[in-house]
Amino acid sequence: MTSDTKTGMFSHKKLERNVTLLGLCALGAVAIGGIVEIAPLFWIDSTVEKVEGMRPYTPLELTGRNIYMREGCYVCHSQMIRPFRDEVERYGAYSLAAESMYDHPFQWGSKRTGPDLARVGGRYSDEWHRAHLKDPRSVVPESIMPPYAFLAGRSVKAGDMSAHLTALSRVGVPYTDEAIKAADADLMGQADPNADGAALKQRYPKAQVRDFDGNPAKVTEMDAIVAYLQMLGTLVDRQKAQAHEQPR
Ligand code: HEC
Repeated sequence: MTSDTKTGMFSHKKLERNVTLLGLCALGAVAIGGIVEIAPLFWIDSTVEKVEGMRPYTPLELTGRNIYMREGCYVCHSQMIRPFRDEVERYGAYSLAAESMYDHPFQWGSKRTGPDLARVGGRYSDEWHRAHLKDPRSVVPESIMPPYAFLAGRSVKAGDMSAHLTALSRVGVPYTDEAIKAADADLMGQADPNADGAALKQRYPKAQVRDFDGNPAKVTEMDAIVAYLQMLGTLVDRQKAQAHEQPR
């Protein structure tokens, strides 16, 4: 054995047998790792580039989003188009960080049993979504997606929407006081074919106001989930946003 290895072994032995020294060194190693992971979060505001068009979700879209989480749609669907050619050709322009900046929690997902949904808004009619959610095999014969027909029979309940928006505003989603006050009315108003919707559209630009579930008498969970799906990917004008991006 050379004297080099001997000294190496000796110092390691010293480190392992001295609990204080070992503790201090472990603390040092973990602290470095921690700083590397945590420090960038302090500059998150400048990391997430702002893009034109991104706005907080309307109460109805938010309700649809909650149903999306409750039903575990994220188990089979992602909402994040990666900057690869095959993905962009299939799903559309790749996702920007800002497009999920108001998501608490984000719905990027980690598995695609079904297709990515980040830009599904406007791709199909409301009627198609209703038929698909009630019985996926009726429109896509080879589909393995489970049916969600019961959504059409469940009414959406207003009442706690202001509290929901307040909670989101506490974590940084910029809902105005006016939007928080009008939350329950906006929830019902967006699915009302007779509502004028002007105030809602002013609060939430590009909000789509109509009866989504084909049943104007009731605001159902089907209204909410279809409103949510039809909004996905429609807020940011990607052509405009892309003009500012670096070529890849
Ligand atoms: C078990 C996995 C699974 C679950 C859970 C699931 N889906 Fe799907 N979904 C699929 C598959 C597979 C497809 C592709 C075939 C089809 O269109 O039905 C699909 C297709 C879709 C499409 C059409 C996308 C496109 O671009 O063609 C939409 C919209 C959709 N799902 C919404 C939902 C919603 C909303 C939920 C939750 C209520 C949900 N899915 C839950 C598997 C799933």
